[in-house]
Amino acid sequence: MKTRIGVLTSGGDCPGLNAVLRGVVRAAANRDWEVIGFHDGFEGLLTPHHSEVLDIRRTAGIMQLGGTILGTTNRGHFVAKVGEGAAARIPAEIIDQARATLQELGIHALIAIGGDGSLTTALQLHEERIPVIGVPKTIDNDLEATAMTFGFDSAVACVADALDRLHTTASSHKRAMVIEVMGRHAGWIALYGGLAGGADIILIPEIPFDHEKIAAAVRKRDADRCLSTLIVVAEGARPKQGHEQIRESGEGEYRLGGVGETVAKEVAARTGKETRTCVLGHLQRGGDPTTLDRILGTRFGVRAVELIAEQQFGQMVSYQNYQVLSVPISDAVHRLKLVSPDGQMVQTCRAVGISFGD
Ligand code: F6P
Repeated sequence: MKTRIGVLTSGGDCPGLNAVLRGVVRAAANRDWEVIGFHDGFEGLLTPHHSEVLDIRRTAGIMQLGGTILGTTNRGHFVAKVGEGAAARIPAEIIDQARATLQELGIHALIAIGGDGSLTTALQLHEERIPVIGVPKTIDNDLEATAMTFGFDSAVACVADALDRLHTTASSHKRAMVIEVMGRHAGWIALYGGLAGGADIILIPEIPFDHEKIAAAVRKRDADRCLSTLIVVAEGARPKQGHEQIRESGEGEYRLGGVGETVAKEVAARTGKETRTCVLGHLQRGGDPTTLDRILGTRFGVRAVELIAEQQFGQMVSYQNYQVLSVPISDAVHRLKLVSPDGQMVQTCRAVGISFGD
């Protein structure tokens, strides 16, 4: 009987997921292995019927598609981590059900593609002696132990494109335009997208801002006859002595949002300048992956299959110094990778005149 491996995509979708799936299937086919794809994240493990055979034909032409052909969820029976809180144990009967599904399908090892929360689940499965390999995914780029996650570059490209578009209205009307971008507690998307899109002010969670400093930066631009200002605000950005703004909190992870509108109101009130807000939202997670994300996703998928062949269970593929290596999953999930306020990227932004409102 052929070796069979399983794969699933979990958590928020992200450009590049399909590239990973295609990479896994092709690398497995090279070894004459079969691949079973589970639907809707870890939920697919609850029954053998929530899965499908993934072969070269099924995964043909998907590398350039956003989203995931397997479906995904960031809710359900396997949620082990909500927000920054401590990890909860997945109930023993759920783990047993997953084990039974894998046994019934004759699956030798599982590749779990996900972000912080999903990899925390993967780690628990590994601790319960289910052979798992992790593949890091998130547009937020906030996972420790990998220099980059696929999806991030596509999100940054989306922010830069949006800034290019906002720039024309900002300059035609001599307005301030505020754009709120994703990233949760990390400012990577705002920082990279803002620099690439020519932002004048970038607000990130790692550098708490001061409304008056933002207004001063806008006034100075006006005084210098630069009559439009582009302001990028990470959804997790917060004022000094203030908190991040929560759009919605209910069951599960709370959703950030609203800080863009707050900043816009303050800029208008303090400078008298006509100001508008745009919330980029899920546009950043949708659409085609960039070439970089297609390549990174494919490399991650291929490396995940190699890790199974090497029996390196409990490892996560990791991008370091242009190489796709691996690290224990436990190294990746304990804390978030945040922007260093004194790091080279922030210094570069400051050197080209970008204000952080601090
Ligand atoms: O983690 C990815 C992310 O897109 C964050 O940047 C954002 O805060 C969150 O997910 C949105 O989640 P949802 O799609 O559940 O609203």
